[in-house]
Amino acid sequence: MTTADRPLRRISARVRILLWLLVVMAVALTAVAATTRSVLLRDVDHRIDRLLAQETAEFTNLAREGVDPHTGRKFAAPDPLLRLFLSRQYADPDEELLGLVGRPGRAPAKKEQSREPRIGHPLAEDPAALRTVFESPDATGTLHRDRGEVRWAKVEIAASAGHPAAAFVVAFHPAGEQAKAGDVFTMLLAISGVALLMTTGIGWAVAGRILKPVRLVRTTAAQLTEQDLTRRIPVQGRDDIAALAETFNGMLDRLERAFAAQREFVDDAGHELRTPITIVRGHLELMGDDPREREETTRIVMEELDRMSRIVEDLLLLAKAERPDFVTPEPVQLAELTADVFVKARALGDRDWKLAEVAEGEAALDPQRITQAMVQLAQNAVQHTVPGQRIGIGSRCAAGRIELYVADSGPGVQAQDAAVIFERFRRGTARRGSRATGAGLGLAIVRAIAEGHGGQVEPRPTEGGGATFVLVLRAGPREQEPGLP
Ligand SMILES: Nc1ncnc2c1ncn2[C@@H]1O[C@H](COP(=O)(O)OP(=O)(O)OP(=O)(O)O)[C@@H](O)[C@H]1O
Ligand SMILES: [Mg+2]
Repeated sequence: MTTADRPLRRISARVRILLWLLVVMAVALTAVAATTRSVLLRDVDHRIDRLLAQETAEFTNLAREGVDPHTGRKFAAPDPLLRLFLSRQYADPDEELLGLVGRPGRAPAKKEQSREPRIGHPLAEDPAALRTVFESPDATGTLHRDRGEVRWAKVEIAASAGHPAAAFVVAFHPAGEQAKAGDVFTMLLAISGVALLMTTGIGWAVAGRILKPVRLVRTTAAQLTEQDLTRRIPVQGRDDIAALAETFNGMLDRLERAFAAQREFVDDAGHELRTPITIVRGHLELMGDDPREREETTRIVMEELDRMSRIVEDLLLLAKAERPDFVTPEPVQLAELTADVFVKARALGDRDWKLAEVAEGEAALDPQRITQAMVQLAQNAVQHTVPGQRIGIGSRCAAGRIELYVADSGPGVQAQDAAVIFERFRRGTARRGSRATGAGLGLAIVRAIAEGHGGQVEPRPTEGGGATFVLVLRAGPREQEPGLP
């Protein structure tokens, strides 16, 4: 089993938020502690530098200007100078003041130490280190011993007649000061640890509180089924989580409506398709050997099959109406379009066809879909009239809108039907003719096409009696003669 096959372990948002928070905080706190430590250590360094410089300056001063109290003259030998200086000095804690007098080939003699400092491993008791310092050509330096680091500075007194070379040495043991900086660092780390622990607790609780609605959305979504879309998430407060719940609820509303519409549609379609199947079946079962009867049955069966295939085609068209490419507008000459529709409609039946009005100009329409809609309207007009009756077809531009219409002189649409006839599978109450009049999909298709163009279909009475169906469409940006009556 490869990694790809294995289901990835899900890390909850709560844990992820908390982990990120902790990582960022840990890095920040450690950086603060480390910076504080290095600043403290630098301070210790500077302080030691100042101290060493100060002691050596004082000694140099005494050597240059000082007077031997016994002789009343300048110091002739290093011994009295060192003794006097050391007797006057007080060493700080961690500090050693030494007078060294050279002994060729051996460690220098330790002259005097002003005071016993409380130092673990004093330089004074480390002859090898004393020799290193004494013989070093530098005036200051750092000695890295196994028993602790020593910072030192010295002032040399050159050998003169009868007197060996000597030196005043000031040594500082920084371990104590450095340990203090280390303590501060450790303490900061400990405080950071406590802060992290507290953050973990508070962060866990706060993230849980904030994410609670998200969990609610998840559980609600998990409980939804196609049969039960009625559950909703309670909306509390006005934050973005409440907005999420509202959006989710809105989506559920739409889903519920869509599912309901789909169920209704499938029920209706099933019903409409079952009727012709029953008829075909019945006729075929009862069909005898009489050639005339067989001919009649064949005719009826063919008719029903035609009807079924028309319904299926119409349903497919309606299903397509949901797609964004259902209508593809292009610049169309309205006059040409109206004439085309008129020619096609005329072939639908023997009526008194009339091209009533023709709009001039260009508009952005889908000519195929508009023709389809107008032919549906013309078909209805034919169904609701008898041969010889007048059916008018026309187009006009009015108040920035384009109107294309089919006006018949039939019985007109009944008032109670006007509201429902545009719905799928809905037919008017006063139906004319046989069942073959249709499934009630025609006007639904017309409406879908009109809406696809951003317009609508309006039923209006025809002057002198009859029904007029008008496609009211927005005049596209290409329209040349706006507001023509
Ligand atoms: N020109 C009209 N005059 C009077 N009533 C009409 C007219 N056109 C449509 N109707 C009413 O509207 C109803 C719905 O029309 P629609 O075109 O949607 O369905 P249909 O014509 O019955 O069937 P289909 O168009 O699917 O073959 C019709 O049953 C009829 O009652
Ligand atoms: Mg129809």
